Amino acid sequence: MKSVLSERLTIHLHDIEHRELPPDAATAVRALAADIRHRLGDSPHTSTLHDAALLDQIERRASELPDSVRTAVRPPATAAGATVLRGLPVDDAEFGPTPAHWQAAAESAADPAHPGSLELDIAMLLLARCAGEPFGWQGQQNGRLVNNIVPAAGHEDEQSGASSSTLLSPHTEDAFHARRANLLMLVCLRNPDSVATTVSSVRQVALSADDQRALRTPTVPILPDVSYGTGFDAHAAPLPTLWLDETGSDTLRYDPAYTPLDDAGTAYRAAYTRLTAELARVCHAPALAPGEILLVDNDVAVHGRVPFRARYDGTDRWLKRVNIRLPERRRRPQESSENGYGQHVVAPFRASTDRTAERGTTDERGSVEQP
Ligand SMILES: [Fe+2]
Repeated sequence: MKSVLSERLTIHLHDIEHRELPPDAATAVRALAADIRHRLGDSPHTSTLHDAALLDQIERRASELPDSVRTAVRPPATAAGATVLRGLPVDDAEFGPTPAHWQAAAESAADPAHPGSLELDIAMLLLARCAGEPFGWQGQQNGRLVNNIVPAAGHEDEQSGASSSTLLSPHTEDAFHARRANLLMLVCLRNPDSVATTVSSVRQVALSADDQRALRTPTVPILPDVSYGTGFDAHAAPLPTLWLDETGSDTLRYDPAYTPLDDAGTAYRAAYTRLTAELARVCHAPALAPGEILLVDNDVAVHGRVPFRARYDGTDRWLKRVNIRLPERRRRPQESSENGYGQHVVAPFRASTDRTAERGTTDERGSVEQP
């Protein structure tokens, strides 16, 4: 059932929105993150970032940041569906060696000799809270609210963030789930070989009316990716790949590596292949530099990563990722009946007013509300 994009990508390096975090705003984010770390100490809250005192600090103090921060982290404004935000100051020496896997990254965040990883976790939560509602997944990286993306030995060929030598196929993050993020925030700690992240927008592709019609017809399901485990039911409810959102704009849900395309008919498979080719044609490939943040509109753009050779010597590429819900966005009502394959979100910032408003109209399964 594997179907991955050809590794021959057409890359447009310069056609993507860039923003600058003003120096005073960038300094304020780092200073507030450092202050919160000093107040709380290093260990109790590092493994999952669920600690109530940390969440309270994020919730109350994100509003101390200047308005320019909220402006900088607003959703991508162009049809590319992605934005590179520059200006967050980082120093390679503050992070320590790149951890060998995500568990080690969570553990080493408490290392007082290298406070940068935990301070960047806190900075990312502050930035994400300025953009919307950061959340995690119980079944992914132990529910941690900020995920670490590092290459892991033995996972080189997987379709997951732990891979390296294979092309990470363009995909919607957590496409299998109705509670997937509206916005992804990826920050780069180090990327010595300038490994490119790929981003392709459904709003830049050209498809025939017949292909659009086929891809808007619920045909095959999308299964959870390997980072959630294996053995999921391939006979789950079919989903549309494309649809129009509440503003009439193209939106997609796409993860070919976890879509059983062999179960679809010829016309659908051909349309899906043409969509895949179009997403390759319009691909942008920013190679993030340390301190750069990539914002990806997960309803509009798919993302991936070009292949690279992992070093496993403590200097590897290291990104952090936050999933963000934008409460003002509405998804297709039909998604409320999806079971989510038993995967649950950890959504400590979900507004209580929002929960009340949606009760009875939106399925709350999958929501693990923290205080
Ligand atoms: Fe991803």
